[in-house]
Amino acid sequence: MAEFTIRPAAPADGGFLADMVVEAANWRAGAVRPRPAVLADSQHAAYVSGWQRPADRGVVAVDPEGRSVGAAWYRLFGADRPSMGFVAAGVPELIIGVRPLWRAQGLGRALLRALADDARAGGYARLALSVDHDNFARELYRSEGFAMVASAAGRETMVCRLR
Ligand SMILES: CC(C)(COP(=O)(O)OP(=O)(O)OC[C@H]1O[C@@H](n2cnc3c(N)ncnc32)[C@H](O)[C@@H]1OP(=O)(O)O)[C@@H](O)C(=O)NCCC(=O)NCCS
Repeated sequence: MAEFTIRPAAPADGGFLADMVVEAANWRAGAVRPRPAVLADSQHAAYVSGWQRPADRGVVAVDPEGRSVGAAWYRLFGADRPSMGFVAAGVPELIIGVRPLWRAQGLGRALLRALADDARAGGYARLALSVDHDNFARELYRSEGFAMVASAAGRETMVCRLR
C-alpha cells in the first residue's frame, strides 16, 4: 500500500495543480498533449488560473519525502463563464489528478473523500465534475456518490449530493 498523507492545498500549489490539469487532459493512454498546449486552452486553464482565489479549496497528497503526488480541488464558476461541468452558480466543480506512478494505490479515492468532507464543512450542498464517458474514473466517482446529470459530446457531468 502506498504511503501518503493529505494536506490542504495552499497558494504555492498553483504550479502543481496545473500539472494535474495536464494529467487530467492527457488521461488516455498515449495522450501527450504538451503542458503549454493544455494550459493555453482556456477550458483547461480555467481550473487553475489565478489560484488560489478566496473560494478555491483543495487537498494535496504528499509522499513520505514531502513531494506532491496528487491533488483534488474545487472552484466556483459563473453562468456567464461556464466550465465543462457547470451545473449552477454556487455548485463548485472539482478536478482531480494523480501522478502516473502513484495511480491505482488509493490516492484518488482518498483525495475525493477529503475534498467532499471539505466541501460539506464549507456548507456546500453539491459538488459537480465533468468526465469523458470512457474514463474509468466515472466508476470511481459513481462509487463515491456521484450521479450523471447531463451527457454531451462524449462527456458526462456528474453531481454528488453532500447532505
Ligand atoms: C482518475 C485518478 C485521479 C484516480 O486516482 P487513483 O489514485 O488512480 O485511484 P484509486 O487508486 O483511488 O482507485 C480508485 C478506483 O479506481 C480503480 N482503478 C484505478 N485505476 C484504474 C484503471 N486504470 N482502470 C480501471 N480502474 C482503475 C481502482 O481499482 C479503485 O477501485 P477499488 O477501490 O474498487 O479498487 C487517477 O488515475 C488519474 O489521475 N488519472 C489521470 C487523470 C484523470 O483521468 N483525471 C480525472 C479526469 S475527470
